[in-house]
Amino acid sequence: MNVKKIVCIGAGYVGGPTMSVIAQKNPHIQVTVVDLNRDRIAAWNDLDLQKLPVYEPGLDQVVAEARGRNLFFSTDIEKAIDEADMIFISVNTPTKTYGKGKGQAADLKYIELCARQIAAIAKSEKIVVEKSTLPVRTAEALKSILDHTGNGVNFHVLSNPEFLAEGTAVQDLQNPDRVLIGGENEEAIRALVDIYSAWVPTEKIITTSLWSSELSKLVANAFLAQRVSSINAISELCEATGADVGEVAKAIGMDSRIGPKFLKASVGFGGSCFQKDILNLVYIARSYNLYAVADYWEQVIRMNDHQKERFADKIIKTLYNTVNGKNITLLGWAFKKDTNDTRESAAIYVADHLLDEEAFVTVYDPKVTAEQIYKDLDDLETRSPEENRRLVKVVQDPYEACDRAHAVAVLTEWDEFTAYYWQRIYDKMYKPAFLFDGRGLLNVQQLKEQGFMIYSIGR
Ligand code: NAD
Ligand code: UGA
Repeated sequence: MNVKKIVCIGAGYVGGPTMSVIAQKNPHIQVTVVDLNRDRIAAWNDLDLQKLPVYEPGLDQVVAEARGRNLFFSTDIEKAIDEADMIFISVNTPTKTYGKGKGQAADLKYIELCARQIAAIAKSEKIVVEKSTLPVRTAEALKSILDHTGNGVNFHVLSNPEFLAEGTAVQDLQNPDRVLIGGENEEAIRALVDIYSAWVPTEKIITTSLWSSELSKLVANAFLAQRVSSINAISELCEATGADVGEVAKAIGMDSRIGPKFLKASVGFGGSCFQKDILNLVYIARSYNLYAVADYWEQVIRMNDHQKERFADKIIKTLYNTVNGKNITLLGWAFKKDTNDTRESAAIYVADHLLDEEAFVTVYDPKVTAEQIYKDLDDLETRSPEENRRLVKVVQDPYEACDRAHAVAVLTEWDEFTAYYWQRIYDKMYKPAFLFDGRGLLNVQQLKEQGFMIYSIGR
């Protein structure tokens, strides 16, 4: 199987960057990324590379190199599917918000729509690659739809989950720890291995059964999130006992069996996937009557919810048990640094909790728009959009954000926060000037000396 043309359905955080790198490394293959969302495609085609819909360090250079040469972004989904030898499905797979499995199972309606569309259009043999994160055994459903609604052509389904993290997507794609390919048909597997072999050493490309590949993706995210919840649990114990979570993390992380990564205590993990994928894992375990397994993993989510709530409560308690009418400034809204993605960001829940207590909240984030911040709050449906706009102010300047604040809370670990002229911020705040560091980012000693009353998570 000689792949000359690839299409990727879904031009989001995964489809866009992944296909950009595949195109960059395989100049002889034509790669087209399609999406229903016209604005998103227009942004991917924008001549001003600062306007790409996904902010990722280094992505602009990759797009600049490949776009127009062998990388294209289009809304003509039918044409691209018709011409492609290989079709990646990279659409969103959110948690279901209705019906059976509501709040836990993955909503596969977008996946099914893609499968039906591929089946209807395809007139020649195609390799269909699951790039989205999917429940184990989805390939079975995909194959069934393709075979039963298609035009009698041959489809080979592969699973090729994506492990990139936002903020480091380009680096993760260009130098992955491993590439995982699950499948049954040797030729189809080989065709996909060949594409990655253009830049990934062969020993890092592993092939498995479809089911192992699908499940490995959910398990990888569950293990990563579990480490964050584990260290966050310890952060609370550190606060109670006088230990320092940074020191504990360093001490345990130097054990090569434990390793130093993903041991940073925080206000709670966010992002579009950790919670969604663990909920899905829990749902799958329950559907096989594996209740102990489900309860075990569910605890990772519970601990995370607790950490977000605990942080907001800490602010309220410290401010003499009331934030009513007080100005609380949140520095950072994205779920982590170096991304404009806010999905499931801890900041949303901390803000919501403070707003429940009738605080006035001011937000500054270097990459997130005011429109997005209001949308995130409106989507919670805790209060009316008018009320959100009355209580929440979004500003473009961090010093303006902290002006006349009763408390400032750091919710994202943006590098620039460490470089602020904190004395200037202190001078303009109400006293005592409370500072809450939800990321263990700031220099506690120095800020204390400047007069701040500082709380840093796990210390
Ligand atoms: P996203 O929401 O950013 O992008 C998905 C895109 O698919 C949207 O632009 C949407 O308009 C489009 N789409 C949906 N249905 C379509 C259809 N029928 N035809 C054409 N376009 C359609 O999502 P994402 O963050 O890129 O995630 C995609 C998948 O990858 C998810 O399963 C996610 O779990 C997984 N994943 C995400 C990340 C990450 O860092 N965001 C990392 C690894 C895996
Ligand atoms: C995560 C995984 O790291 C990727 O491998 C995976 O592909 C992706 O999910 C996905 O499937 O979507 P991502 O969510 O982009 O990537 O970012 P992470 O770096 O994993 O951070 C997730 C959250 O955990 C962030 O809110 C981050 O601040 C938090 N975190 C991470 C901590 O609080 N402490 C840590 O030590 C590490």
